[in-house]
Amino acid sequence: MKVRQIMPDVYWSGAIDWDRRLFDSLIPLPDGTSYNAYLIKGTEKTVLLDTVDPSMSYVLLAQLKDIQNIDYIIVHHVEQDHSGSLPIVLEKYKSAKVLISTRGKDMLIDHLHIPQDRIITVEDGETLSLGDKTLRFIYTPWVHWPETMSTYLVEDKILFTCDFFGSHLATNELYARDKSRVYEAAKRYYAEIMMPFRGIIKKNLEKIKDIEISIIAPSHGPLYDEPEFIIEAYEDWTSDKPKNTVVIPYISMHNSTKIMVEYLICSLTQKDIRVERFDLASVDLGKLAMSLVDAATVVVGTPTVLAGPHPNVVYAVYLLNALRPKTRYVSVIGSYGWGGKTLEILKGMLTNLKVELLEPVLVKGLPNEEDLKAIDKLASSIAEKHKEFS
Ligand code: FEO
Repeated sequence: MKVRQIMPDVYWSGAIDWDRRLFDSLIPLPDGTSYNAYLIKGTEKTVLLDTVDPSMSYVLLAQLKDIQNIDYIIVHHVEQDHSGSLPIVLEKYKSAKVLISTRGKDMLIDHLHIPQDRIITVEDGETLSLGDKTLRFIYTPWVHWPETMSTYLVEDKILFTCDFFGSHLATNELYARDKSRVYEAAKRYYAEIMMPFRGIIKKNLEKIKDIEISIIAPSHGPLYDEPEFIIEAYEDWTSDKPKNTVVIPYISMHNSTKIMVEYLICSLTQKDIRVERFDLASVDLGKLAMSLVDAATVVVGTPTVLAGPHPNVVYAVYLLNALRPKTRYVSVIGSYGWGGKTLEILKGMLTNLKVELLEPVLVKGLPNEEDLKAIDKLASSIAEKHKEFS
């Protein structure tokens, strides 16, 4: 892949990772990803914004083949998919200095062993002249690490945001053209790593509100030359109001829990409540995370095994707690053989969420008519709670 011009003297110089299918050994990447670096040539200074994942250093180096000098390398974020090729680039450009937020300096030394004398910290709001172009640094912390910042190219009105507004999507389209596909990938990305920081992301959105932006250039996925598309999506995802949706992550061993789940879906459907159901025996965790962005209620379906919830349910509920969605209500349904502490264990895992627990329905063996009536009651209770979201 060769460099691609965005504006005169402003270039995309990243790497498209079509084949990557897992990130952080955790997050599924059904559509691959990209690591977007950018090159800006001012009349006096040349700057590289971020690097690429170390597995694709060779792509970046090939793009920089004819670049004789780089004065500065801006590290927006220390995570290795953007900073991992920094040591190689610093080796090639021996006089280049690294510009990073004050919080990022020690992290860069800790994670990549970059020599202290190669690093210059920049303050929030500080500017840097490249001659005919000006860069302004804007701290946008916790998207999704504490040190992250963005850079605004004043003359061209381009905001480089690193992970913020990014999407795990391998495409050779420079700009977001297939809106529904990019929306899906960006929402998945937000759900998987940004959602726990919803409150501070709202503050970051407020911080960039008055900046005139022609292009948002993130470090994953395509750029946005209609910035309001992704900004409005983020405003929706980070808003406090959930939607009239129930997410049901469940697993069933001998069909009893599944019967309860299907009955609940039927009852919720009659009440015009949208449902997203996930069988945890073969779940795409990214899709589950995406569904949690908007859901007002989560109902966990689990059998009792080894005196507690099924281990796959434990994994999903751990993620639910860690991702801190805006969910307001939680309940548990499922079947047990003779006893156990399923409910107590699950309640003890939801320490991060400010949710109301709706009356659980845990039944012995195969659900009977009374048990199904209890599920109808749960559905009615959810419908009552959801009135304000309809
Ligand atoms: Fe794309 Fe947090 O790194």
